[in-house]
Amino acid sequence: MEKRRGKLIVFEGIDGTGKSTQVHLLKEYLEAQGIEIVTDYEPTRGEWGMRVRAAAASGKRLPVEEEVDCLLRDRREHVEQLITPALERGRWVLLDRYYPSMLAYQGATGINPAELQRLNESFAPQPDAAFWLDIPVEVALKRIHNRGASNDAFEQRQFLEACRSIYASLNAPWWHRIDASADAQSVHARVREQIKNLIGGIS
Ligand code: TYD
Repeated sequence: MEKRRGKLIVFEGIDGTGKSTQVHLLKEYLEAQGIEIVTDYEPTRGEWGMRVRAAAASGKRLPVEEEVDCLLRDRREHVEQLITPALERGRWVLLDRYYPSMLAYQGATGINPAELQRLNESFAPQPDAAFWLDIPVEVALKRIHNRGASNDAFEQRQFLEACRSIYASLNAPWWHRIDASADAQSVHARVREQIKNLIGGIS
């Protein structure tokens, strides 16, 4: 059995929902409470994660079976090398994407999300809390456009609608929808409320 002492907190949502900003704001808040934090993201910049990133950036995704295979290898390395050791040392790990992204994105490509969940949970610890930052796809696409990023293969509208529907269908005690259409500080305040309710012991 894994002897986990830190907490694993995950931010999820379609592209353009402000996950990295929320990771940053929560890190600052928790550090001010004296909690030691590690932040990271998936796909990682390791060999397997980079294969998926490179394909998406070129506008042509890998065949979905290969994509799943690469992402699982990437996640397994991440769990073994960073996530579990940090949790065992009592650090809180804040992640920008984790396996719910696979349920949504590879699920939207036609693979059964329940099967993907089973595969991931056979090796990846479940989060203590996962915050699904939810905004309408239209708004997310505007934000992506405004920050000057080109829409890559992941960012097509219909596809993001399908991802959002899968996020909406997920059901776990640690899965929390947050309305993320407000400004970053208001969204952060909502996250903080949930963290206090969930974990307690912090002011
Ligand atoms: P993203 O968070 O957009 O990274 P960046 O901001 O650095 O481009 O992640 C890249 C893409 O990877 C994103 O569109 C979702 C996708 N993805 C999956 O399809 N499955 C997964 O399991 C994960 C973690 C990400």
